[in-house]
Amino acid sequence: MKLLEERIARDGVVKAEGVLKVDSFLNHQMDIDLFNEMGAEFKRLFADAPINKILTIEASGIGIAAIAAQHFGVPVVFAKKSQSINLDGDMYSTRIQSFTHGKVFNVIVSKKFIGPDDRVLIIDDFLANGCALDGLIEIVESAGAAVEGIGIAIEKGFQPGGKNLRERGYRLESLAIVESMDPGTGTLTFRDQW
Ligand code: G4P
Ligand code: NA
Ligand code: NA
Repeated sequence: MKLLEERIARDGVVKAEGVLKVDSFLNHQMDIDLFNEMGAEFKRLFADAPINKILTIEASGIGIAAIAAQHFGVPVVFAKKSQSINLDGDMYSTRIQSFTHGKVFNVIVSKKFIGPDDRVLIIDDFLANGCALDGLIEIVESAGAAVEGIGIAIEKGFQPGGKNLRERGYRLESLAIVESMDPGTGTLTFRDQW
């Protein structure tokens, strides 16, 4: 998506260790006009998929998913990060390893809000190693629901998450794929998806 690539190139800040800061428009301050264009693009990309629910994970996925949902006319469920391990039977839960934050956390979704009739589009802001998405996929599939697709704002193509998911056969659409980033010069390159 050209608009997103241009915004990343203009306002993204390349940090050391392969981290891209986009907090001026994506995951701290949020540019809602941009989110709306992203939502329209997700709808265009998944127009033929019978999606009846969007699943994301707190915190940064929620804004993007909520605006996208207006283009699909479906509810959004967000997986919650939980410290506690006293999980009752009313919840689907999984453990997610975050490399960026260097910790493991539990992620939960109530069984009330996802079930065998659901055809789910999973949305998140970043795809890096794919640990968060693995957890969300596990929750959807353990509910007996179907993963219709995965929509990502920014995929870091130099980390393995996207390649792994495509190899597993998931329909993954990333609005921008960063192929390389140089923290010295601040230069970014994008995968040409067109
Ligand atoms: P993974 O899920 O793909 O394995 O990624 P990883 O564990 O490395 O990422 C952990 C968190 O860091 C995620 O946020 C993810 O969105 C975010 N992240 C990964 N790479 C980048 C990056 O280059 N820039 C920025 N800004 N964020 C990145 P989270 O744990 O879901 O936290 P939240 O911010 O949504 O609350
Ligand atoms: Na995230
Ligand atoms: Na994040």
